[in-house]
Amino acid sequence: MIADRAAAQALDRADPLAEFRDRFLIDPAVTYLDGNSLGALTAATSARLGEVVRGEWGDRLIRSWNEGWTDLPTAVGDLIGAHLLGAAAGQVVVSDSTTVNFYKLLVAALDARPGRRTVLGDRRNFPTDRYVVDGVAESRGLRVGDVGADPLGGPTPDSVAASLDSDTAVVTLSHVDYRSAALADMASITALAHEAGALVLWDLSHSAGVVPVELDRSGVDLAVGCTYKYLNGGPGAPAFLYVRRELQLDLRQPIWGWFGQRDQFEMGPAYRPADGIERFLTGTPSVLGLRAVEASAALVVEAGIERIRAKSVALSSFLIDLFDHRVAGLGFSLGTQRDPERRGGHVTVHHPDAYRICRVLVDQEQIIPDFREPDGIRLGLSPLTTRFVDVWDAIDALARVVADGRHTTLGTTRLAVT
Ligand SMILES: Cc1ncc(COP(=O)(O)O)c(C=O)c1O
Repeated sequence: MIADRAAAQALDRADPLAEFRDRFLIDPAVTYLDGNSLGALTAATSARLGEVVRGEWGDRLIRSWNEGWTDLPTAVGDLIGAHLLGAAAGQVVVSDSTTVNFYKLLVAALDARPGRRTVLGDRRNFPTDRYVVDGVAESRGLRVGDVGADPLGGPTPDSVAASLDSDTAVVTLSHVDYRSAALADMASITALAHEAGALVLWDLSHSAGVVPVELDRSGVDLAVGCTYKYLNGGPGAPAFLYVRRELQLDLRQPIWGWFGQRDQFEMGPAYRPADGIERFLTGTPSVLGLRAVEASAALVVEAGIERIRAKSVALSSFLIDLFDHRVAGLGFSLGTQRDPERRGGHVTVHHPDAYRICRVLVDQEQIIPDFREPDGIRLGLSPLTTRFVDVWDAIDALARVVADGRHTTLGTTRLAVT
């Protein structure tokens, strides 16, 4: 049976996480389906930032470094690690951007595999990861390998196994693909890389806070990820990085800043890295960003990653069902796997005129998905804010817009941010 809007509203009434939406500051006129790019603002984060600015910065000034600021990168790292990443304490820090953390860990891993000259990645991976790999490979004269991931299915143990060899130093992949949402088999791929003697660096940007991750249990070496997507830390919020405890003393990251130094305030002549995960810090952490991540991630932790995943699967299944019934015949195709075990939190649909359809949704329907080149409309489902009725409204709008051809009246000039 085709669900109607009332059926979506009934699902919302039965949703055990429904109350969490009230803890965000959301414009009720907008249907926001881009929380996988920039998560919404929580009321607690907004209030906390006000307190931190006035109290910790305004009143306490530099004394605040001794009153909690110095420990923020590890404290927030442990919070995210324990509850959302399956990482025991002392293995996660929040600092810098995902790009910078990726660079630090990639270089550290390569240095730990001297003599091996291949970085194995996914040529369909998010650009920043590919660019960093290419830059590091070029400066060191390394080879960049490709696991040959299927656009819909993402990297699989078979595709990785076929690409690994004794020259592979590091394997770098996204756990959830930014376009298709394909969910990789982290434990199996990590084990295969280890059998070949390589280290593995996972990008968890599209999984942290929406898909349960078991870094310790999966034997993962290294990981990075964003905090401004499903963790709602705010634009440019500092990213996290994970280094498995047994590897920490063997790895040296390339940015030798004073926050990674063992005795920071000795101001000594030479860099000696800290003994633990702090050695992966660089310079002065972004305190406001860290306080925002702390407050917003706490809400995700409170909701619980298992309940979040259950709602995420229910939302994406509902979307795919509506897609089949309402829009599949209108020139759309599904760009995300139907098996919920094989997908993360968002759903991508393809259409030859995706860009103009997106523009109509944003400008005329107050529905905000995002467009991904060349023809993808990415529908981000954030379980703490997205309702079933939002999914219904978005698919209904897609069907109406394309059926009446409204998008065809627009020009094709692209805006910088889509
Ligand atoms: C998989 C992935 N990695 C990294 C990034 C971004 O990294 P940064 O925060 O350094 O811009 C994104 C942003 O969307 C992403 O999707």
